[in-house]
Amino acid sequence: MNTSTDKVILENLMARLKQETSSEHDRMEVLMQQAGVFESKENYAQFTLSQYYFQKDVEHLYLDPKVQQLIPDLDVRGRSEAALQDLKDLNVEPQQQLIATEMIKFPESLGWIYVSEGSTLGAAFLFKEAQAKFGFNAEFAARNLAAYPEGRAVVWKRFKQTLDEANFTEQEKNEVIKGALNGFNRFGTLLEDLKNLK
Ligand code: HEM
Repeated sequence: MNTSTDKVILENLMARLKQETSSEHDRMEVLMQQAGVFESKENYAQFTLSQYYFQKDVEHLYLDPKVQQLIPDLDVRGRSEAALQDLKDLNVEPQQQLIATEMIKFPESLGWIYVSEGSTLGAAFLFKEAQAKFGFNAEFAARNLAAYPEGRAVVWKRFKQTLDEANFTEQEKNEVIKGALNGFNRFGTLLEDLKNLK
């Protein structure tokens, strides 16, 4: 912790995000296991519903001109429309309109977007499992887990670079991290209540 290299790593926003949210990430994996997402099509459909609601929360933040200015490629991001199509394939209609991010301001909003963008990486594994267990794919019921057309790694790298080059103050970085923790918390709440989601 005392070397200058450690200090540089800790000041880098993306490195801080990864490090300071890693226990939340682990918690998500445990919750998904407990929910048995791939044990049945019904469970998978409920998981897709949670993805849809979370994506709606995150995409609401895209409306902020400050977010649009910082992240110019928002049009290639976001998967709520894909999740909605998947839900149609699975015969589920979302019943809720609530957006959990109405009060979220910039730059905290970037933390939520980080959670969503990062989740596209783990989604590679989930996509494979949905294919293997149920035969779902990028055209049916697993669109929301498919890679972006440019590929997961490219789009993720560009996002990382954008955030790291934004030159946020320590205070702003702390806000982004708070947003990421709140974003994970929102997804965690959806996962905890997965069976009852409507
Ligand atoms: C079983 C479920 C999951 C698995 C197996 C998984 C797996 C992974 C893996 C392997 C990575 C690292 C990829 C890399 O560094 O190249 C990753 C990154 C990430 N995942 Fe997940 N994930 C899961 C669920 C989730 C969920 C539910 C969320 C959020 C809603 C999430 C958010 C993230 C984020 C934000 C990162 C980026 C970490 C960073 O800053 O580098 N993951 N995931």
